Amino acid sequence: MAKFWKIVGLIIVFIAMYIAYTSKDTFDPESIRGKRVIVTGASTGIGEQVAYQYAKLGANILITARRETLLKQVVKKCLDLGAQSAHYISLDMQVINETGKLITEAEKTLGGLDYLVLNHALYYWELWDGDIERLQALMNINFVSYVNLATKALPMLSKSNGSIVVVSSGAGLTSLPLALTYCATKHAIGGFFEGFRLELEYTKKNVAVTIFIPGVIATEHAFDVGEQLEVDTYAMGMFISPVDTAMELIKSASARLRISYYPWFHSRPLEFIHTLSRDLCDWLTFKIASKFMGIMEDKKNNLYKKIT
Ligand SMILES: *[C@@H]1O[C@H](CO)[C@@H](O)[C@H](O)[C@H]1NC(C)=O
Ligand SMILES: *[C@@H]1O[C@H](CO)[C@@H](O)[C@H](O)[C@H]1NC(C)=O
Repeated sequence: MAKFWKIVGLIIVFIAMYIAYTSKDTFDPESIRGKRVIVTGASTGIGEQVAYQYAKLGANILITARRETLLKQVVKKCLDLGAQSAHYISLDMQVINETGKLITEAEKTLGGLDYLVLNHALYYWELWDGDIERLQALMNINFVSYVNLATKALPMLSKSNGSIVVVSSGAGLTSLPLALTYCATKHAIGGFFEGFRLELEYTKKNVAVTIFIPGVIATEHAFDVGEQLEVDTYAMGMFISPVDTAMELIKSASARLRISYYPWFHSRPLEFIHTLSRDLCDWLTFKIASKFMGIMEDKKNNLYKKIT
């Protein structure tokens, strides 16, 4: 029995040390002033908040998304909040050969680059129906454009010892029914950028790669999906603040973390279970997902949502 309590005690000490270590906040807000930042998918959601938080910290900002009217509003607000400069370019990330324009625009308006925040994504909630063309389009938006932008931005980022932040998801750690195509694109991001970091190290480029894993964040899109999946409003009240999420992303990038989960309890436990036992992970995921499958079937045709 004494041995048991010793082990429990040791585990508690390790957890406390881990929490103390990970929660120590060394972020210097002044370090962001004057930095040159690109944020994609910045017209709404987490991307929009990331732009605002960088703006408050006095960065130079270039944002992109598809909808020009929204981008104009975000740029104006960034300037009001204290951005040293703010520009936008409207782009459709599905058209890969056009996405490079973002980097050309950065050369022109920012004259260099410190942070490339790749955040845009699109998803569909439905059973896999064999639509290969739509899968390819989603792959372009959620994955191929990320690779193209990171590649084209690399000369500028190498010069500044900059950072690439790729926003992934719990769906990039384990797989979920009803979102297979989205999961595939997010797994692709992890597969590419984890290795890309090592290649950068190998080629002696001082460019950081941070994979950021947000949980269920209180964005308009999340509430939309929540409503359609008939998640009760009490549960929706537990969605996480997009402002806090944006700040966490900025701090993680500044600390050059290789991976950052926010909040950790939305994605870490399932990732841990997945490592421990795939059977248990499948069982749990299926339990949760099957609750929604009936609802999904009923509403299949109007149930896809866009984030950009
Ligand atoms: C991209 O490809 C499309 C269609 O293939 C073409 O119409 C367009 O001119 C291309 N854009 C650039 C910048 O090359
Ligand atoms: C980038 O980092 C290297 C060391 O890795 C340093 O020698 C160089 O001065 C840094 N450049 C800038 C622009 O900070």
